[in-house]
Amino acid sequence: MQRLLLIVSGSVAAYKALEFARLARRAGFSVTGLLTAGGARFITPLALAAITGSRVHGDLWSVEEEAQAGHIRLARDHEAIVVAPASADLIAKMAAGLADDLATTVLLATNRPVLVAPAMNPTMWAHPATQANVETLRRRGVAFAGPEEGEMAEPEIGLGRLVEPPALLEAVRAMLAVGPLAGRHALVTSGPTFEAIDPVRFLGNRSSGRQGHAIAAALAGLGARVTLVSGPVCLPDPPGVRVIRVESAREMLAACEAALPADVAVCAAAVADWRPATETATKIKKVAAAPPPTISLAENPDILAALSSAGSRRPRLVIGFAAETENVVAHAKEKRARKGCDWILANDVSAGVFGAEENAVTLVSEAGAEVWPRLAKTEVARRLAARIAEALR
Ligand code: CTP
Repeated sequence: MQRLLLIVSGSVAAYKALEFARLARRAGFSVTGLLTAGGARFITPLALAAITGSRVHGDLWSVEEEAQAGHIRLARDHEAIVVAPASADLIAKMAAGLADDLATTVLLATNRPVLVAPAMNPTMWAHPATQANVETLRRRGVAFAGPEEGEMAEPEIGLGRLVEPPALLEAVRAMLAVGPLAGRHALVTSGPTFEAIDPVRFLGNRSSGRQGHAIAAALAGLGARVTLVSGPVCLPDPPGVRVIRVESAREMLAACEAALPADVAVCAAAVADWRPATETATKIKKVAAAPPPTISLAENPDILAALSSAGSRRPRLVIGFAAETENVVAHAKEKRARKGCDWILANDVSAGVFGAEENAVTLVSEAGAEVWPRLAKTEVARRLAARIAEALR
C-alpha cells in the first residue's frame, strides 16, 4: 500500500483536504494527516483523524514523538508528501528552507516526492514573491497541482482556488505512476493549431484544449506516462505530464511521431484541415488601392489517420474525436472507418461545446455506439481513461 503524508496548512480550503483524504483512502492509499497551526484553525485534528483512520501530527516539540525522531520518520516513511491546501506562507517557508514547525521541518528533511496544491487569494498567488517561490520549488523538483481559476471565498474571482479533490488524487497518482495504466505510455493531442500566413498572422480556431488536457491529466491519474502534444492554449500543464508545445499541424504530427511508441493515442486536438499554401517570410503589407490578397490553401496531414496507419509503430488503441452538429453517430462511424482508428468520441457541438466546461459525447467503437450523459469535460476524461485502462488490461 502506498502511504501519503497529507500536510494541511492554513486556508479556508482546508475542508477539501478531508474529502481528498477520503478519496485517497478509497483509492487504496493510506493517509497520515499533519496539521500546521493555521490548518488546525480551519479543521480539527479529530476530523482529520476520523477520516484518515490514523493519528494526526502537528507538534514539533512532542516529547513522545521526538524520542523516536518523529519528524524524520514522517519525512521518510511515506511514498509521497501532499501539501493541500498550501498557503502562501508555507510555500514561502519551503522556498526559504525554514524549519520552524513540524510541517516545514518534515518538508526539509524529506527525500520523497512532494506535491503542493496552493490555495490563496488571487492577488497573493500573482504576487511576484509567491511566483518566485513557486519557481524556486519547481526547479528543485517539487510538483504543483493548481491553483485553479474560479470563485474564491472572499468573494472574488481569479486564479487561486485549490484543485478539486479528484484532480488532486490524479496528480498524486501521476507523480507516483501508480494505477491501472502504470507502465503504459499515452500520447494525447490537444488544443487548436495555428497555421502561419506570414510572421504575424495565422489561421486558427476556437478550441480551448480543455478536453484534451483533461484527458492527459486523467490518463496520468491512472498511472500512465503521458506525452501531451498541445497547440497554443491558455491552460496550465497537467501535473505529471510531459507537454510538447507546437503551433502548426505539421509540427504536431512530427512531435507525435517522435513520441512513439505509445500504447494509446488520443487525438483531441482541433487540427486545422488546411494551411496557407505559402508562408511569406515578411509581413504582407497593405497597399493602398490594391485588392485584398487571396490566400490559397493546402491540405494538412491528418494526424489521427497517420497514427492509425503507423504500421508496427501504431499504438494499440487509437482514439479520435468527431465534432458533429447532425447525424452524430452516422458521421462518427464513417469517420472511424475512414481514419482507421479504434474509437471515436463523437461530440455534438451544436450545443456550444467549444470552450465550455461540459461535453456531450457518444463513444463509437467496433461494438457500436454508446451515448454518454452530458458531463463535465473532466468527467468525460475520467470515464475515457477508465475505458482505456480496461481495454489495455
Ligand atoms: N484530426 C487530426 N488531424 C487532422 C484533422 C483531424 O488528427 N489534420 C483528428 C482530430 O484530432 C479529431 C478527428 O481527427 O480526433 C476529427 O476529425 P476531422 O476530420 O477534423 O473531423 P471534424 O473536426 O469532426 O470535422 P469534419 O466533419 O469537417 O471532418
